[in-house]
Amino acid sequence: MIVVFLGTRPEIIKMSPVLRELRKKRVSFQLVHSGQHYSKELDKVFFRQLELPKPDIQLHAGSGSHAEQTGAIMIGFEKVCKRLDPDLVLVHGDTNTTLAGALTAKKLCIPVAHVEAGLRSFDDSMPEEINRKVVDRISDYLYTPTQGGKTNLLHEGVKPTSIVVTGNTVIDAVKQNIALADKLKMVLPKGEYIFLTAHRPSNVDLPQRLRSLVNLADKLASILHATIIWPVHPRTQVMLKRSRIVLSPRFKVLESIGYLETLRYLEHARLVLTDSGGIQEEAYSLRRPILTLRENTERPETLTANKLIGLDLRLAKEGVQFFEGGEARWTHALGKGDAGVRIVADLRARLRGLK
Ligand code: UD1
Repeated sequence: MIVVFLGTRPEIIKMSPVLRELRKKRVSFQLVHSGQHYSKELDKVFFRQLELPKPDIQLHAGSGSHAEQTGAIMIGFEKVCKRLDPDLVLVHGDTNTTLAGALTAKKLCIPVAHVEAGLRSFDDSMPEEINRKVVDRISDYLYTPTQGGKTNLLHEGVKPTSIVVTGNTVIDAVKQNIALADKLKMVLPKGEYIFLTAHRPSNVDLPQRLRSLVNLADKLASILHATIIWPVHPRTQVMLKRSRIVLSPRFKVLESIGYLETLRYLEHARLVLTDSGGIQEEAYSLRRPILTLRENTERPETLTANKLIGLDLRLAKEGVQFFEGGEARWTHALGKGDAGVRIVADLRARLRGLK
């Protein structure tokens, strides 16, 4: 029996194709949720819209500093692992849930498989980069989305036989759900809009950085005569209030938005402005122009239609010119939508080998 361990919005979305395939192939699994994300807009809405099974076990670890959160998840998950004694623990991505899940399982000598392995921003100031490197280092089976990911892992000394290039499950999820999103019959705002998301601590936790980010989005919208659709992450919401930042009327703030709504907004955006890894991938697969509010990306395959601008207005303007010049290209480098199938096929073969 496999334990699938997740706990945050991106893990729920990107593991959904794997969960579907596990069910289809009747692989026995238990779904365990760390409770890192608990608000309806970061959690339940995705389970409902993606028609996922409810978690079998909830740990309710909640928020806290990195050590508090990671520690709380490990303490809860260790008890679950001891009780269930799974053949394998499957984790995804680079969150504190991923790190805590992989470390706990590995210390109990339970094999660990990591979906979305091999991504590197080469920026250790990002908490996710630390999580990725540690989890990849101790995982037994590494499912990496791209050849670039495989190269990163080989450079770090991972055995070639442990690595499988699968494509990114985010592409499966977009393909499986875009038709559902179209059925929502959402009324999109008239005229063109920029779709903005921001939640990275480096962008939102310091008031002056958050103010620069808001000013950049506002100026860009003014240049493009566009509005800004901004579903605000809870972390950013807290900081906006605390920093007393007042938004111009160009901003249309959405307090809560589901996955299908996000796809629909992305699909029709003039421009996507984001610091999220998942949104970079989703926007790329929907062939939208992306300006990323970071200096680096662990998704270099998107750079044919994704400009890294940090919080620099000059770079943002250059980015707009690049897209208006028709130079952008969207490829299938992130995958073709069969990552879930490939991952489960490999897992089944490995599980047979474990028995
Ligand atoms: C986490 C992940 C990040 C991922 C992001 C997606 C880590 C280190 N970071 O960041 O990689 O891209 O999820 O959202 O694991 N909060 C709520 N409700 C919730 C959860 C959080 O209001 O359900 C608020 C709390 O104020 C909390 C803050 O958001 O302190 C940050 O939550 P946390 O889970 O620590 O990190 P994220 O910023 O969501």
